[in-house]
Parts: sequence; C-alpha cells; structure tokens
Amino acid sequence: MRVSVLGLGYVGCVSAACLASLGHEVIGVDVNQVKVDMVNDGKAPVVEERIGELVAEVVRTGALRATTDVREAIMGSEVSLICVGTPSEPNGSLCTTYLERVTEEIGAAVAERGGRQTVVFRSTMLPGTCLNLLVPILEKYAGGTAGVDFGVAVNPEFLREGTSVRDFFDPPKTVIGELDAASGDVVAALYGGLPGEVFRVPVPAAEAIKYADNAFHGLKIGFANELGAVCQALGVDSHQVMDVFLADRKLNISPAYLRPGFAFGGSCLPKDLRSLVHAAQRADVSVPILAHVLPSNADHLQRAVDLVERTGKRKVGLFGLSFKPGTDDLRESPLVELAERLFGKGYDLRIHDANVSLSRLLGANREYIETRLPHLGQLLADSVDEVLAHAEVCLVGTKDPAVLAALPHGEGPVLIDLIRLPDAEARRAEPGYMGLAW
Ligand SMILES: NC(=O)c1ccc[n+]([C@@H]2O[C@H](COP(=O)([O-])OP(=O)(O)OC[C@H]3O[C@@H](n4cnc5c(N)ncnc54)[C@H](O)[C@@H]3O)[C@@H](O)[C@H]2O)c1
Repeated sequence: MRVSVLGLGYVGCVSAACLASLGHEVIGVDVNQVKVDMVNDGKAPVVEERIGELVAEVVRTGALRATTDVREAIMGSEVSLICVGTPSEPNGSLCTTYLERVTEEIGAAVAERGGRQTVVFRSTMLPGTCLNLLVPILEKYAGGTAGVDFGVAVNPEFLREGTSVRDFFDPPKTVIGELDAASGDVVAALYGGLPGEVFRVPVPAAEAIKYADNAFHGLKIGFANELGAVCQALGVDSHQVMDVFLADRKLNISPAYLRPGFAFGGSCLPKDLRSLVHAAQRADVSVPILAHVLPSNADHLQRAVDLVERTGKRKVGLFGLSFKPGTDDLRESPLVELAERLFGKGYDLRIHDANVSLSRLLGANREYIETRLPHLGQLLADSVDEVLAHAEVCLVGTKDPAVLAALPHGEGPVLIDLIRLPDAEARRAEPGYMGLAW
C-alpha cells in the first residue's frame, strides 16, 4: 500500500520505518525540516533500539522517503497515519492543535486529489475527539461524508519507547476503531501478517482503550511503589512479597476485579485497606493511592444514590443486600450502606434478598438484623414480585436467577443496574434502563 505518515516523532518514525520494511511504500511528513532531512539521509530522528539500521535500510531501498509537504504526501498515498503530538496544556487538558492543523491540511489535499483516502489517527486522543472534532474538520476541508467519500479510523499505538521496533513486529494487540468496515479493512491490511489479536471496535472505544491502558500502567507502578515503601518501613522485602503476589494468576494478575460494577465491601477489603493505610501513616510513609481506594469506593456508591435522585421517584426497590451473591453476610455490605443512605433520605424502600430472608427465617442473621439494622429489617420483602409491585425505580444488586427472570423490559419501574446484568447490552437501548458505570 502507499502510506503517508504525518509526524516523524517516536511513534511516526517507528511506524513509517516498520511499515516500509513490511513492503509498503511510505512517505513520512514532518513540519521539522531537520527531521525530514535526517530521514532522507537514512538516519533516524529518534533514538530507539534497531531504528537506526531500519531507517537506513528502507531509505536505501526507496521504501521510505520524507517531505515537509502534506499535499505531496497525500497525492502519493491512499492511506494516511497521523502521528502528531498531543501534549498536555498547562491545565492538564489535551492539546489537539497539531491534530487539527494536520487534519485541515490532509482534508484540503484530499479534496484536490479525489478518490478515497483512508485517514487513520494514531495519536492518543480522548474519546469523542475523532468523531466530534476531527471528522467535521475533514468533512469541511475534503468535502463529502466521512465513511462514504473517505475512510476514517483510530488506531492507537501500544509500543513501548525503547523497544518499539521489536513491539511493532510483535504487538500486544492491534486495535482498530473503525467508522465503517471499509476503513477498518484498510488498517487491518496495513498490519497483515503481524502476530497478536486484532480488535475491531467503534471509534470512541479505540480512543478510550488507550487511556484505560495507560491509566492502568500508571496505577500499577504507583501501587507497586507504595506497597514497596510500606513493606520497607515494616522491615519486609517488597520484592519477595511481589514475587508471590505476581504468581497468583487467579485473583491478582488476572481479569478478576477488573470489570466495572458496584462498590466493594465485605468483612475484609475495607478493614484491611484501613489498617494498611494506618500502618503506613504511623511509619510516615505517604501512600496517596492506597489512601484513596476507600474514598473512591464511597464515591462509586454515591453514584447509585445520585442515579435514584435523578429519576425524581420516591418508591424504590432494591434487589440484593448481602455483600456478595450467594452469601447472607451483611457486614460492611455496600448494599446495606446504599439502603441506609436511601432510607436516611426518606425514600420509600423495599428490599429483597433471598439469602438474607432465608437466614432470617432460620434465625442465623435475625439477631444481626434486629439489633444492627432494625430499620432495614422492616423493609425486607419475601418475594421479588412484592418489590416490583411497590417500586417506581428498582436497583438491581444481585444476579439471583429469580430476580433476573422477573425484571421487566421497557416498561414497569426504572431499572438501575448495579452489576451489569447479563442482558445489559440489549437493555442499554431500552427506555428506563440506567447502568451504574456503562
Ligand atoms: N512516544 C510514545 O511512546 C507513544 C506511545 C503511544 C502513543 N503515543 C502518542 O502518539 C502521538 C505522537 O507521540 P510522539 O511521542 O511520537 O510525539 P513527538 O512529539 O515525538 O512527535 C510528533 C511529531 O509531529 C510533528 N508535527 C507536528 N505538527 C505537524 C504537522 N502539522 N504536520 C506534520 N508533522 C507535524 C512534530 O514536528 C513532531 O516531530 C501522541 O499522541 C502520543 O501521545 C506516543
């Protein structure tokens, strides 16, 4: 394919040289004449493992050349990868100025050339930037409609500086956010033959995936370093701790606990986070990430209360009360906390949890409910239908099959889904459905 790569920084230079070595005919573009001259001299404008040899090789064979002229590059290519910088503004917001400028120039050149150009954004940008900001610019300058007259895709890059050439040929994954299937096909063909799973997703999802990855990487590093500092203060070798931590692929290094859902609770996590943070404070070790886990959890619980308030309705049903499905343990259950907040705000509440009802019947939890939660005890309903008949708005905090089977579709009470119901994807389009964080 004939490919133009706009922006010859770390991402653009590596993409351009690697695509050229895969057999594509590549033109690199940069506003910086020095970088353009370097590439044309067979030298890499960035320092990276193997990039020097690769640029020298593909420039010698004629597979890669560079220019400062966007128009010339668009005339000589049918697919364009945009790799310009998106730095932080002083207030932390994302600077899209370079993206906007280069998109204008590409659009104008596409209008002049005619034919279907596929414009692929590789720069990191917040969800919505492509469809709300850049596509309108392209449509204005190129004329015509995106997805019809020209292709648009977002193809974030996941290469690590330092090993990015190696990572290009053995990527962790390829993400293609496609406006239309034809645009996605062009991007898939660019990387044809490379290993790793290919994910074809809507454009905003591709933009968001990059942020999910980088936020998680930062969080992991911060977590490990804070834990290291606490361990050191307590006289424990943090690397020995993390060696064992990392060996647990069931609960630690695994998909466990990584799907958006309801707040956590129970008799262990809150208590143990509190005492760990307290121990760190006593040892004068600052642990802002660990110290903010419980406040973050409390804010998440508050989101559910806010959703109920937003409906403007007063008769509320709650399915689920124990801290986890399949148990009757109410200690530090986030659903108990939620029920108490709603009760405190004067909502007319009915609660159903089959396990709690059963254990109350057997007497096991009766004393706990009667002494600690007498106000909630009175609100417990024995059947799902009783709650549904009462409620104008229903919070679903359990995957109890009897509850799931009874939940109405499109009519009846507003449903606030706290747990991502198994049919949530279909329900998201229904009126009266609200997901807690999806
Ligand atoms: N560096 C990384 O490891 C990495 C990894 C993944 C994603 N990203 C993202 O990729 C994007 C590029 O990052 P980078 O590190 O390569 O940036 P960079 O600053 O090294 O390079 C950007 C290049 O774009 C050029 N440029 C600016 N405006 C231009 C225009 N109108 N026409 C042509 N060229 C223009 C600049 O001169 C510069 O050479 C950013 O959005 C970044 O967040 C970077």
